Amino acid sequence: MHEDIKKIEEDFLKEFREINGLNDLERLRIKYLGRKSTINQLFSKISHLEKEERASFGRNLNSLKQKITEIINNRISTFSEEQEELDVTFPSQEIYFGRKHILSVVNQKICGIFERIGFVVIEGREIEDEWHNFTALNIPLEHPSREAFDTFYLNLPSYEKKRGCLLLRSHTSPSQIRIMENNKPPLAVISPGRVYRPDKVDASHSFMFHQIEGFCVDKNISFSHLKGVLFYFAKSFFSSDVDLRFRPHFFPFTEPSAEVDISCMICKGKGCSVCSHKGWLEILGCGMIHPKVLKYCGINPLKYTGFAFGMGIDRIAMLKYGINDIRLFYENDVRFLNQFYEV
Ligand code: PHE
Repeated sequence: MHEDIKKIEEDFLKEFREINGLNDLERLRIKYLGRKSTINQLFSKISHLEKEERASFGRNLNSLKQKITEIINNRISTFSEEQEELDVTFPSQEIYFGRKHILSVVNQKICGIFERIGFVVIEGREIEDEWHNFTALNIPLEHPSREAFDTFYLNLPSYEKKRGCLLLRSHTSPSQIRIMENNKPPLAVISPGRVYRPDKVDASHSFMFHQIEGFCVDKNISFSHLKGVLFYFAKSFFSSDVDLRFRPHFFPFTEPSAEVDISCMICKGKGCSVCSHKGWLEILGCGMIHPKVLKYCGINPLKYTGFAFGMGIDRIAMLKYGINDIRLFYENDVRFLNQFYEV
């Protein structure tokens, strides 16, 4: 009889090792603990045993029953946990992969084009002072853009105003000043970043947008170097058949100055709604760095010359990808952002 108990235990453990799923387990439970199970039958035989044997047999049989019950119950709970993890019918969560914002992609593309011809990328500061944003760029006190209307001034009473008030830079040109103040020519630098202007927000204006400043200072740098660099950029970024037009313009920090247009890539210069039937699209401002600016930065203008240019990244991205509203960049609507999957 005691051997029967041992045998039942061995058989159970063997079968238990082979079970596969809750159904198997239920079958095993019925077989070993059910009404018609061998264990149950043995219980009914206890009364036929010799008096002295009854107690120890009953104890052994009980402890086997307990052990099997425990093993089965434990397994049931682990099965249900596994089942929860593996419920293939459960609706899945959609996975969104992050990707670079279209403005970052365009910024990096532009920087990459200039890096290929030896420019280095150096970012400037978003909080500037009047000296770097205006004075050293030959923008005199009476220039309209110095008025609070065109610039976000920061009112920090504890700030020591050696270099004028602090402000949010209104263009990336102050990067030129900081880099020229701290480095000797030859210099060929590209400096991207955010700029701020208190403009009313509409389809083509935002209080914050992005610019890329580029400049080069060395002996004998001329306007033809500037033209060569900008032609190379426009053909690399837009398309090889794009044409450039230089229109005389005025900037206090460059002399001579120009605004540069590209031939409209939609109508190939014939005139369409994107270029307002002009055939040309304005993309940047540029010129030869004003001798006064070089002097302010401790560079001898009799020995060195340089060119500089500044372009709006948002505007260039809008032209390249046919985006008609600048606000789309900042609304973070994934239906817009996801359209630039391939770029
Ligand atoms: N800083 C000028 C602007 O914001 C652009 C520019 C940069 C023009 C460098 C000439 C040279 O409009």
